[in-house]
Amino acid sequence: MNSVNQSLLPITAKIDEAGILHIGGCSTVDLAEKFGTPLYVYDEESIRNCCRQYKQAFAKYPKTNILFAAKAFMTSAICRIMHQEGLGLDLVSGGEIYTAVKTGFPMERTFLNGNNKSAEELEFALKAGVGRIDVDNFSEMELLDKVAKSINMKADVLLRITPGIECHTHDYIKTGHEDTKFGFDLSQLDEAVRLIKEKYLNINLVGLHAHIGSQIFETTGYIDLVGVLVDKLAEIREKFGITLTEMNMGGGLGIKYLESDDPPSIDELAEAVLGALDENLKKYNYPEPILYLEPGRSIVGTSGVTLYKAGSVKVVPEVRKYVSVDGGMADNPRPALYGAQYSAVIANKANQERTEKVTISGRFCESGDIVIRDITLPEIEFGDIICVFDTGAYNYTMSFNYNRVGRPAAVLVKDGKAEIIIRRETWEDLTACDVIPESLALPKAESKCAGCCACMG
Ligand SMILES: Cc1ncc(COP(=O)(O)O)c(C=O)c1O
Repeated sequence: MNSVNQSLLPITAKIDEAGILHIGGCSTVDLAEKFGTPLYVYDEESIRNCCRQYKQAFAKYPKTNILFAAKAFMTSAICRIMHQEGLGLDLVSGGEIYTAVKTGFPMERTFLNGNNKSAEELEFALKAGVGRIDVDNFSEMELLDKVAKSINMKADVLLRITPGIECHTHDYIKTGHEDTKFGFDLSQLDEAVRLIKEKYLNINLVGLHAHIGSQIFETTGYIDLVGVLVDKLAEIREKFGITLTEMNMGGGLGIKYLESDDPPSIDELAEAVLGALDENLKKYNYPEPILYLEPGRSIVGTSGVTLYKAGSVKVVPEVRKYVSVDGGMADNPRPALYGAQYSAVIANKANQERTEKVTISGRFCESGDIVIRDITLPEIEFGDIICVFDTGAYNYTMSFNYNRVGRPAAVLVKDGKAEIIIRRETWEDLTACDVIPESLALPKAESKCAGCCACMG
C-alpha cells in the first residue's frame, strides 16, 4: 500500500476550478489572507494516517512501540495527536520533556535520547517518569547513575550503539557509521555492559538502541541493523548471562521531496524489519524483544507545507530571475544546512502552465538564503502565494530568529477548519529576553520616548 511519505502533497490536497490549492478542505489563499505569511500549514488527516499506517504495518509483531521523534515537529498540539493515536514520543531535551508533561502525555510512553544530556535534564526525566533513557557514552552513564542515586531512583536504559552501517544520505544526517558523535562504538559495548552490571547500580539495562540516519531510501540498512542488534543481544546473553528484552531501531524512513524521489513505503519498511527480525531471532533462539521505532520525518514531513507571499523580483540578465518571498532560511534552514531541495506551486495559480524558470530566494541577509533554486512555475506576480511542499519536518523545529524576524504561525487544518497551533511571534516576543543592564542606562534627558509602542525606558 502507498503511504503518505511516498507522496509530494498532503493526502487532502486538491486544486479547485479556479486553480486554487486546498489542503484539509481549506483554501491556501484564504489561509494566507487570514493568518498571514509565512505560514506553516499542517494537514491533520495526513499526520493521523501516517500514525495509523505505522501501527498497522507493524501490527503483526505486537511487541512493537512506535515513538514519534519529536525533534521533527515538537509542539503541544502534536503531543496531543500522538497521545490520541497511541504513539509514544522520542524526546531529546528538558524542553521537549516539559512540553510533553504539560500536555498530560503518558510519560511511560516516552524515551529520552541525546548525546550530552545534562544532570538537570536527567533528573527531570526521571522525576517526570520518562519510560526509557538512552545512554549514549561512558560519561553520561556515570552521570545518570549519580543523578538516579541522588534521588533514590533506578533508570531503565538502552545503550545506544554505533552499528557501523553506512547509509546513502547527507553527511549531516548520517549517524550509523563509525566516525560519529553518537553512541558507543561496538568495541566499547562489553565494557559498558560490565560497568552497569558491576558498578552503576542505579541503572537497569533493558536493551540496545541504534539510529542509522535520516531520509533513508533503502531498506537494506534496516535489515543490516536488525542483524547487528540481534547479534549484540545474543553476544551479551552469552558473555554476561543477561537476556536484554528491548531493541530500538531509531527512525530515518525518507520522504518524497522531489518528483524523482522514491522512498519505500511504511509497509515495505515493516516487511524488511520484521522479516530480518524473525530470521535473526531464530538464528540465536532469542526470545522476541520489545521493538521500538522512532520515525519523525515520515510522520509529519509530507503533512506540512509552508505558504509564502511573493515580493520583490531581481533579474540578472541571461543568468537568473530571483523572486523573493517573505520567509526563507530562518523558517526553513534545511536548504542552507544541507542543500535540501523542495517542490512548490503558486497556490493561486496551481492549474496554470509552468512557463518560467525562477529561483525562490528568502528575505534574510545571507546569499545562501535560497528556498528553491531553479524551479519552473507559472509567471509569478507580486503578492502571489507560493506553497512549498513537504516542510512539515525539521522546519519549525530548526527555525530561528535571524534578523530579528519572528517565527511563523502554524495552523492545523481539517474538514475545512483551520486552527492555530503555534501563534506567530511578535516583535514584543523578540525583545522579551533582552535586558538592558543598569550600567547602560541613558542619562535622564536622553531617555525620551521615540513615540512608538516599543519604548524600553
Ligand atoms: C535517535 C533518533 N531517532 C529518531 C530520529 C528521527 O529520524 P527521522 O525523522 O529521519 O525519522 C532521529 C533523527 O535525527 C534520531 O537522531
